[in-house]
Amino acid sequence: MHTSDEEYFNSLLKKPTVFKDIGCLSVTYIPPYLPHREEELRTLAKCFKTVFDGQDGPLKKVCITGPTGSGKTTLAKRFGQLLENIDKTNNFMLVYINCRIYKSPYLIISTLARKLNKAIPARGYSFEELQSLLIRLLDFYSPNVLLILDEVDYLISRVGTDFLYTLLRISEMTTKQWISYIFVARNLNFVYQMDASTQSSFQSSHISLDRYSEPDLKDIIKSRSELAFFDDTITEDANELIADIASRSGDARYAIELLWGAGQCADDENSPIVYPDHVRKAKALIHPEIRREIILTLTLHQKLILLAIIRKLKHTKNAYISTNDSISSYKLVCEEYKEEPRKHTQVWSYLKELSKQDVITTKISGEGMRGKTTLISIPDISVETIEMFLVKAIENQKKTVEHVEK
Ligand SMILES: Nc1ncnc2c1ncn2[C@@H]1O[C@H](COP(=O)(O)OP(=O)(O)OP(=O)(O)O)[C@@H](O)[C@H]1O
Ligand SMILES: [Mg+2]
Repeated sequence: MHTSDEEYFNSLLKKPTVFKDIGCLSVTYIPPYLPHREEELRTLAKCFKTVFDGQDGPLKKVCITGPTGSGKTTLAKRFGQLLENIDKTNNFMLVYINCRIYKSPYLIISTLARKLNKAIPARGYSFEELQSLLIRLLDFYSPNVLLILDEVDYLISRVGTDFLYTLLRISEMTTKQWISYIFVARNLNFVYQMDASTQSSFQSSHISLDRYSEPDLKDIIKSRSELAFFDDTITEDANELIADIASRSGDARYAIELLWGAGQCADDENSPIVYPDHVRKAKALIHPEIRREIILTLTLHQKLILLAIIRKLKHTKNAYISTNDSISSYKLVCEEYKEEPRKHTQVWSYLKELSKQDVITTKISGEGMRGKTTLISIPDISVETIEMFLVKAIENQKKTVEHVEK
């Protein structure tokens, strides 16, 4: 490192900061206390009590639903952590699977099998072989598994409901019910495609979370800022402003992102205290509609087509663009990034995938257009903000690929 670079880096490390532990504001952090979800945590404990006192009752499964940022993932994971802490002797095993990342039934079953025995190869079995292997492993190890399947509605929209039947049937085929389930989804719509008895079993063990209200968000922000900031570094007004802004969507994720952004702005300005103005500046940069984690899980060409759509929407200033326009814009973006454009049918499947993930919205054109065509838009969002984020994500992905290829 050049001396001046070293100096810069040293001064950066020594720079005063309002953050005591910025990690407490990361997306993966699970706080030890969840204000306004105490009752739901107790409901979960009651639902799973029989499993953990060794009784062999009926199959235990609970479905947690609620809008984005209502704390579904955090509640399920926090409950899993509690069981992990309590049940050290009872062969407890927490398995958390996010179905947006583990996108196929095969991957999910093989992940479960490999949790039980690391020597199981990730590939090479047929799906049926893998299922019977899992049944044998469960009976052999007799574990107390809590399987959290997060964003299961997304998986069902891709592969249909058969997989859920298969998964639940595994518990009928083992000598004891070794697996208990927490399913996490936006709503119960995915269940309505299933037979009547499965539907009613899901409905009877359902925890529905509401959007957070402004006072709820205030408590959440307070408890998270106590973990993340030094004492007295964030003003009451700043806290209130964050709660006010985030209460329009009731989304705790947005509140935490604003909290993080406001702290960063204060640090950038060398301010020892986070004021409402820092919150306003953070608001201009952070948009609740973008789920950054989802954009990061897209493949390179899915990102390129998304960028193409955004650029075209920006250029035309229309609310919707046609599929043909998005494909011609995609070709230009590919040229810019020196990527060979994918075939038409492949691009179609990318568009379908983006729509399933709620990254884009589509509708069929109505009157006033010749013939019927699919129109594409991006839900309520400042296109500039996603564009910036997306360009960075594409550049990073290209760098990593080039690095691996070297
Ligand atoms: N009661 C709470 N107390 C403290 N932090 C919370 C609480 N509820 C949610 N959060 C925080 O808000 C963010 C979003 O929560 P979470 O990821 O659980 O939402 P979600 O309902 O799963 O959203 P999505 O549908 O988008 O997946 C996380 O950073 C989480 O730590
Ligand atoms: Mg979630």
